[in-house]
Amino acid sequence: MQTGVIIVAAGSGERLGYGIPKAQVPLAGEPILAYALRGVIASGIADAICVAVPRHDETLRQVCGEVSEAMAADGTDCPPVLAIDGGTSRTDSVREALATLQGVDAVLVHDAARALAPPEVFQRVATALAHGGEAVIPVREMTDTVKMVEHSDNAAIAQDMVRETPDRTRLRVVQTPQGFTLQALTRAHAAADLFDDQQAAAVTDDAMLVESMGIPVYAVPGSDLSLKITTETDLVLAEALLQKYGS
Ligand code: C5P
Repeated sequence: MQTGVIIVAAGSGERLGYGIPKAQVPLAGEPILAYALRGVIASGIADAICVAVPRHDETLRQVCGEVSEAMAADGTDCPPVLAIDGGTSRTDSVREALATLQGVDAVLVHDAARALAPPEVFQRVATALAHGGEAVIPVREMTDTVKMVEHSDNAAIAQDMVRETPDRTRLRVVQTPQGFTLQALTRAHAAADLFDDQQAAAVTDDAMLVESMGIPVYAVPGSDLSLKITTETDLVLAEALLQKYGS
């Protein structure tokens, strides 16, 4: 099975508040993207890697070159790494990258923001695809109780009120890398191409698109290390995890 990996790193990272694209933000002195790319290469599952970076971002293109050269110099078997301009939404970035990976059988899509996702998670997703899954996502069990809310009937008390409490034992938190056969992901993105802006904005992961086509999506164990770096607090947590567990 030939496997391509897409790393989406074209987001602005406004919520992190650094004034630079999130994938450039330093984590213990190195850009977030460097960790994400090293994790993918170290997993050994990628035959080709495509990284979507913000339009005309030379810094992140350079990070791609430096990481793969350094790993190759250390004797790691490095697949080709292609950096391309991403799109205005995450879905656009995936679609642009997918167009460069047409010779493969399977594609894993990974958020650069999940910089510390361990190689074993990539391997679990790739193994499930090799066993015949068309779509495979890594998940964690919920530790918090989750409530569904609606607008409150008395704004003087609070804006929201609880509508229901879903059964926590059946809920999962979803991470990346998410893996698909090339055919399933290509079909899903062709359908998403027809979405209006509101529909496109509602797409927060690739599995949603594949699910809506009736394709079964399998869930394998993710990792607590795969936290998505979105806020300043996440960055502090990621630095603490790096210190304790390394990368
Ligand atoms: O914005 P959010 O944190 O949900 O983005 C998830 C991932 O998608 C990030 O790694 C980000 O860089 C990527 N992204 C992208 N292109 C966009 C928007 C987000 O590659 N236009």
